[in-house]
Amino acid sequence: MFYQLPPDDDHNELPLTFNSEIGFLNYFLSAAFTEKENNLASAWTGHEPFLFCLLHYTKPRRFVELGTHKGNSFFAACQISQTMNNAIECIAIDTWEGDEHAGFYSNKVFENFKRDFIKYDNIAKYIRKRFSEAVSMFENKSIDILHIDGLHTYEAVKEDFETWLPKLSDLGIILLHDTQAKTKDFGVWKLWEELQNTYPSFEFEHSHGLGVLLVGQNPPAHIKLLFNAMKKEEVVQLVKYFFSGIAGVEKSKKVLKQSIKRSVQKEFKKSYTWRIGRLFTYLPSQFYKLIQKQKREQF
Ligand SMILES: C[S@@+](CC[C@H](N)C(=O)[O-])C[C@H]1O[C@@H](n2cnc3c(N)ncnc32)[C@H](O)[C@@H]1O
Repeated sequence: MFYQLPPDDDHNELPLTFNSEIGFLNYFLSAAFTEKENNLASAWTGHEPFLFCLLHYTKPRRFVELGTHKGNSFFAACQISQTMNNAIECIAIDTWEGDEHAGFYSNKVFENFKRDFIKYDNIAKYIRKRFSEAVSMFENKSIDILHIDGLHTYEAVKEDFETWLPKLSDLGIILLHDTQAKTKDFGVWKLWEELQNTYPSFEFEHSHGLGVLLVGQNPPAHIKLLFNAMKKEEVVQLVKYFFSGIAGVEKSKKVLKQSIKRSVQKEFKKSYTWRIGRLFTYLPSQFYKLIQKQKREQF
């Protein structure tokens, strides 16, 4: 059972450095260049720098993820928690069976997830259940940040949002992935249209879109400051350029890595080792053919 979190009195005073917007941004963006530990990649990759910043800045006590798959976004949260003195408890919830959008996958995905999870087992937990079954394990107001990334139809994401909303604490932030995906029956964009004016919010359009909603009833001062700053056109534009820019760099790093790998492979094929290797696989088959031929001639 995950119990209600006490009021967050530690964050009701703002550090002096936040007195100016530049001071605030300087601190907020400082975790963006954290080097990612795992090699996983998914549609979420472009939001990892923001997740590092958000968690580093907001200092949530409990982060819960609905929809973890291989663990790309989840392990990013675990990683930053470890750099913050294990401040954030991270909980992953998934059936690890897949769904109509992510595709249905084999148990190997869960086996690999458990292997990678070991590194973070001092701060993380996982629950292999449907979201609707796991929800009763959480008391109301027991989660500071909830990331919703399960099935992306309008009906599914609305149900996830509504059933989990009471579980959010006074700090309460909900992240919704895929707010920009409009193919097939993806419907997060539709829910986002309904929610973005109901709660203080901002959205990143890159990497399929990520919506950030402040649902907490009584947020501490630093959370209010973040959402107030993101109401200002010049701040929000700068922050959006910054994170979509980094996402672009991350993507080009990946493309670069792939093209280096391809050219290394190409060079390797021309190399001496490759030729000798080929010879070792070629010679035995030639010997075999020769012996067979000799046998045939003897008869
Ligand atoms: C889009 S993937 C998650 C991607 C992940 N956050 C990442 O960083 O790549 C969606 C996951 O949600 C899980 N899922 C979908 N609906 C679910 C439900 N109702 N209960 C539990 N898991 C569910 C699927 O098994 C799948 O692994």
